[in-house]
Amino acid sequence: MEPLEGGLNPKRKMTSDDFDSLRCLGKGTYGTVVLVKQRSTGRLYAQKQFKKASLVVHKKLVEQTKTERQILESVNRHPFVVKLFYAFQDQEKLYLILEYGQGGELFTHLNTEKMFSESVAAFYMAEMLLAISHLHQTLGVIYRDLKPENCLLDADGHLLLTDFGLSKVAVDQSEDSCNSILGTVEYMAPEVIQGKKYGKAADWWSFGALAYDLMTGNPPFRGGNHAKIQENIIKQKLVLPYYLSMDAKDILTRLLRKDPGKRLGAVMPKDLQTLKNHRFFRKIDWKKLAAREVEPPIQPMITDPELAENFAPEFTELSLSPTVTSRDFWPGSPTKDDMFGGFSFVASSSLLESGGYLTSRS
Ligand code: ADE
Repeated sequence: MEPLEGGLNPKRKMTSDDFDSLRCLGKGTYGTVVLVKQRSTGRLYAQKQFKKASLVVHKKLVEQTKTERQILESVNRHPFVVKLFYAFQDQEKLYLILEYGQGGELFTHLNTEKMFSESVAAFYMAEMLLAISHLHQTLGVIYRDLKPENCLLDADGHLLLTDFGLSKVAVDQSEDSCNSILGTVEYMAPEVIQGKKYGKAADWWSFGALAYDLMTGNPPFRGGNHAKIQENIIKQKLVLPYYLSMDAKDILTRLLRKDPGKRLGAVMPKDLQTLKNHRFFRKIDWKKLAAREVEPPIQPMITDPELAENFAPEFTELSLSPTVTSRDFWPGSPTKDDMFGGFSFVASSSLLESGGYLTSRS
């Protein structure tokens, strides 16, 4: 028998009525992220929502959305990857209820400080390295779209990777014929841009490009438009500013090799050891880091978690479109062809009990 419905049963399926929308945290090309509060518990979450109609128009996005939901479910326990608590849908939209990265985007903090010292950069790169290698090794997932917007901080200042819409499970040999590149291209590996076959080494390139950005304030290859940036990524020689240490220069040079076969990260697990033992990471205690026992260099300022102070006002000041509730639709009418069948998800009870950011009033 179905357990009793209501706030007492954390494992029941959720609907959008279970959450109040507080403010907008971000807007992607096809999805919106809204800060929401669970009515029954007062917990705060990031609700990522996709309009089914737009997904159907862009057919590839249907698959990407399902991939994101599957990857998030399987990765649910890594300290530096955003956790998925619930997934549900109504007639109009798909919803992912995710861990709220309260500290905002890492790159908002980078913009404030212009650039980070090498030891601060090493902390974030080290947490990112653990998250990426977990995705690669344990799940066979290639992130593919590693970029600044996807690096959030939690309330304590630890890194949280988010956005798996473009990720790919490595064993999936199916070719992506349509290589529509949306959004940021600065961090994409040359082979991804060229539409060649790519593997996990593509993520190590992006990792190098992010590291370069953290330590210099700019991505390694720039240009006035997408085409120029792409050309530079493919052809331009890497220039390393004089003020970087030998260690930083060495790790960046090896991560930003255009030939993926020669790149640090191409030969696993050997290269993972080479990376972790690199002098650039000499101050990192990997065991402590993995246990979240290393104190983050930036403590995000949080007065009222509901204000989302660490997010860009251009988003948080956007008005929230009124949510169409399930009651506005004919009851029980299934989506055409059940295109989004199997989307729903409820995290394990232990995760639900521990997770979700609690507000002072809950
Ligand atoms: N959790 C997942 N995605 C998020 C985002 N864009 N902002 C804040 N928290 C999130």
